[in-house]
Parts: sequence; structure tokens; C-alpha cells
Amino acid sequence: MYFPATRLRRLRSNPVIRAMVNETTVSLDNLVMPLFACPGKNVKNPISSMPGNYQLSVDMLVEECKELYQLGIKSVLLFGIPEEKDEHGLTGTDENSIIPRAIRAIKDAIPEMYVIADVCNCEYTTHGHCGTIVNNDVDNDLTLETLATQSLAFAKAGVDMVAPSDMMDGRVAYIREALDDEGFSHIPIMAYSAKYASAFYGPFREAAESAPQFGDRQTYQMNPANSNEAMREIELDIEEGADIIMVKPALSYLDVIRRAKDEFNITIAAYNVSGEFSMVKAAAEKGWIDGQRITKEILKSIRRAGADIIITYHAKEVAQWLKGERYF
Ligand code: PBG
Repeated sequence: MYFPATRLRRLRSNPVIRAMVNETTVSLDNLVMPLFACPGKNVKNPISSMPGNYQLSVDMLVEECKELYQLGIKSVLLFGIPEEKDEHGLTGTDENSIIPRAIRAIKDAIPEMYVIADVCNCEYTTHGHCGTIVNNDVDNDLTLETLATQSLAFAKAGVDMVAPSDMMDGRVAYIREALDDEGFSHIPIMAYSAKYASAFYGPFREAAESAPQFGDRQTYQMNPANSNEAMREIELDIEEGADIIMVKPALSYLDVIRRAKDEFNITIAAYNVSGEFSMVKAAAEKGWIDGQRITKEILKSIRRAGADIIITYHAKEVAQWLKGERYF
């Protein structure tokens, strides 16, 4: 049946019918807000490339979480800026390092806040790479050990979920076993399964002070050209016991999210990363785009591609824009 019998504009004629046939919503329940914990007291350092985001000392982080929770954002993803760094990232495995302290403080103040902690060594190593260096490259199997110990330190502090972002082979199984052996079989793993070696992480590395001091991350993070390989990464992580798999970045990889959704029956998270956030902010500041409309369109497109969960620096402002509504 063709025009004139068929007219698709009929179902777009007013807001009620448009809402009735709307296919995709974004709910505050889907959003996770990343936060950066740093040493000190009363510290709220603005991250210049990410307006509205800060390095927060633990006391301020707790205040931020209270505000987020009241706005309806009930989950945060924590990154740490430690007092000291070392060659292997051992400082990140300490039960009194910055992230365990942050976890305990948040859970004390707001027990209902769902706290996810990023597991990786790049914030804790002097060289900024995601693991132990042997012969100028990250040694996979040595790194598994620090990742597992770091996960355990977070679990002991009361974390609700761990999210390994290092891209070492075999880390999901290794962390799973370490958690299970110590009585943490109830803690889920959200695996950064398809994590690309991306220029979109630039602003984050300023925020987390984690830029590699030599080379890049191409020997462990994925080649942006590959999507078949992403399916293999996801498949392996599911076999190793991942509860949620992640595609990261989100926006240039919507096709990968869609493929993952079609090929696997598992919850999918997408990370709307720092560079994606900063580009929107910079263009909006110049008056070149409508920041609020574009942000909503971006988040909708990530959901439409198939993501269940979206990790995004926009989470707080979206909750503010919604003024008590829970979805758009
Ligand atoms: C740690 C990690 C990174 C991000 C999340 N976890 C940086 C990196 O891999 O270099 C990036 C997040 C963002 O850009 O928002 N490995």
C-alpha cells in the first residue's frame, strides 16, 4: 500500500499520538553517574574539560551522592585519584586507599545508593598503564593479580558491583574466582568487554590523572575498526561469568551495541564517555547547538541501539532537567 493510502504523518499529528507510538524511553533508572574521588577534605576541583564534573574529596563525594540520590540518580561509578602511585598499582589494592574509603563513606551515609567501582590499575600506576609493565608492555597475567586484589578491597569495603576496565584477557574469570573464594559470590561483575583504544577518553585522563606516560593502550584496548572481535570479547566475558557486558565508547559504536543486543541475551551497558560529553558541552557553550536537546537525543539513541544501562556524565543534569519526572 503506497501513498496516498499510506501516510506515516498521521501518527505524528499531536503529542498524545506521538507519545502512544514512542518506541524508546530513557529512565533515570537506566543512568549511572561517574564520580572522581580524590584525597583531602572539602576539595571540589572543577575538571576544566568536563563542566559540572569535579574531583571530590570523600566528604564532598558523599554530599554529591546525597544530592544525586534526591534527584533520582541511584547509582554511581567511582574512579580514584590516590595519594601515591607505584609501578604495579599496589596502592589501589590497599583496603584503606581512596576508593575503599569512598565506598565506606557513601554506604554509611546513603546505604541505598548503588555503588559501582571501576577496577583498573591506570589510576594507581606511576606510568599510567592499566597493569604491570614487563618489556615495555603490560603483562597480562601479572596484572590479573592486582585486579583481583583491588576487586577484593572494594568488596570488603561494601561495594555493590565491580567493573573491570583494564581489558586483560581472562580477568573476569580471575576476579570472579577471587570474589567467590572470599565470600563475595553475590557481587556482580560489569565487564568493560568491548572497550576500544579511543581518543574519546581524553578529558577523562585529565580528570583521573591517568594518561599513559609512554606509548598508548593499543596492545590491550580494541582497534576501533573491529566489530567481529567485539563479539568474541563479549562471548568470552559471558563465559567467564560477567553479569553485565559493556560497550565503550557509546556514540561511535552504536552498531556494536546493536550487534551485541541481537547476538547475546545479557544486560548491556554503554559508556557515554568523557570526550562525547565534552564535545556537547563545548559546542553548546559556543551557542552552536542546543545542549539539552542534543543530550537527550544522544541518550535516546544509545538506548535505541540496545543499551539497558547508560553510564553518563550527563546523568545529574538530566535528572535536574526532568524536574521530578523519571523518564523522557
Ligand atoms: C580506566 C578507564 C578509562 C575510562 C574508564 N575507565 C580510561 C582509559 O582507558 O584510558 C574512560 C572513561 C571516559 O573517558 O569517560 N582504564
